[in-house]
Amino acid sequence: MKISILGTGYVGAVTGACFAELGNDITFVDIDPTKLDCIRTGRSPIYEPGLDELLTRNLHRISATTDTTQAIRDTDATFICVGTPSNPDGSIDLRYIESASRDIGLVLQEKEGWHTVVMKSTVVSGTTKGIVRSTLEEASGKEAFRDFGLASNPEFLKEGSALADVFSPDRIVIGAEDPRSREVLETLYASFDCPKLVTAIPVAEMIKYVSNAFLATKISFANEIGNLCKLMGIDTAEVFAGVGLDARINPAFFRSGIGFGGSCFPKDVRALIAQAEASGLHPKILSSVVAVNEDQPLRLLALLRKHIPDLKGKRIGVLGLAFKPDTDDIRESRAIPIVSALLDAGADVIAYDPLAIANFQSFFPEITYASSAAEVLESDAVLIITEWKEFEALDYTGRLVLDGRRIQKAAVGSIYEGVCW
Ligand code: UDX
Repeated sequence: MKISILGTGYVGAVTGACFAELGNDITFVDIDPTKLDCIRTGRSPIYEPGLDELLTRNLHRISATTDTTQAIRDTDATFICVGTPSNPDGSIDLRYIESASRDIGLVLQEKEGWHTVVMKSTVVSGTTKGIVRSTLEEASGKEAFRDFGLASNPEFLKEGSALADVFSPDRIVIGAEDPRSREVLETLYASFDCPKLVTAIPVAEMIKYVSNAFLATKISFANEIGNLCKLMGIDTAEVFAGVGLDARINPAFFRSGIGFGGSCFPKDVRALIAQAEASGLHPKILSSVVAVNEDQPLRLLALLRKHIPDLKGKRIGVLGLAFKPDTDDIRESRAIPIVSALLDAGADVIAYDPLAIANFQSFFPEITYASSAAEVLESDAVLIITEWKEFEALDYTGRLVLDGRRIQKAAVGSIYEGVCW
């Protein structure tokens, strides 16, 4: 199949490379020529393990261009993978989705033959059949489902294991309402041996949000229970190991700590809340998920203040800046509120992260960045923010360590306390 991918951010880059690996011809489209240059030379525009190799191996099936018109004209299907940033009220900003839809529509006006437009970007339920459809129809003068295809195919990628998530998914969700769009997506995923759910388009969009919101809820639940377990002197990890053995519950995403970050959970939960509120519903559970998540990093700071009441002039070490290990992504990282509060309190912050220093530095140029994790240990107190594997190999002997992620080794030979344990 000939497929164009609009947007070479995280979702577009991974999706396009994986579709190429499946034997399809891929045209990546972006307004940023540096990203396209990366792709053309087999380098990923974003950090994701294995993606460079995948792009390099499939370069003969890959092209990259800023010419949207040509890309759409020369392909059978277009996947919209552009960003959906947050508005100040938590709802999603659809400006890139709208302009991508308009670009596609204008080409479809002239294009003969069937073309399927697939929404891969995360958009709240109703977007594809609402603004996307109307923009496409207006720009093309054609009718969706009759003159061209329109479908939703949400992704469930985790940063750091995105390729495995594409090639060994728990399920594939196909939101398709016309037989030809459905056939395009079923053909694309024909080689996959996993449950494939074909639904109405708004249902597919909702599955994505509800999956993320539920996982975020599990984490905030684990954190609230973790806070209680700490007060009671009970090991929260043991509690959740036992709880997770119930097949109805499942053990994943029950790690207590300083909460969730990243490009999806915080943004998606807020977008779902905004959508509920716009519909006249005040979602109590989702609001609490966000409230607990915002509180958790502050609890780590409260622990620090218990040991060092006045932080002014104290050297505080921060281990980990990325929102989770194996990524350089700092979006909504719990390190952000923690470092901000340390600076407000007048502390001298020294931080280390194996991958995320450059990204963090652009927002926090005023802190000291260490060249090794060991250097960070030379501080009045050490805060563990991200559970990088290499932090398990450090010698914490004699240190004051406050742990937001549960690095077992840190508890040995030091003054040690965890946020929920
Ligand atoms: C998530 C979803 O898992 C993925 O399906 C979706 O497509 C995008 O959002 P990602 O943001 O890459 O993926 O990271 P994930 O591994 O899910 O972790 C998100 C955050 O939750 C991290 O900050 C992590 O530290 C935190 N987390 C995760 C916990 O605090 N406890 C847990 O038990 C699990």
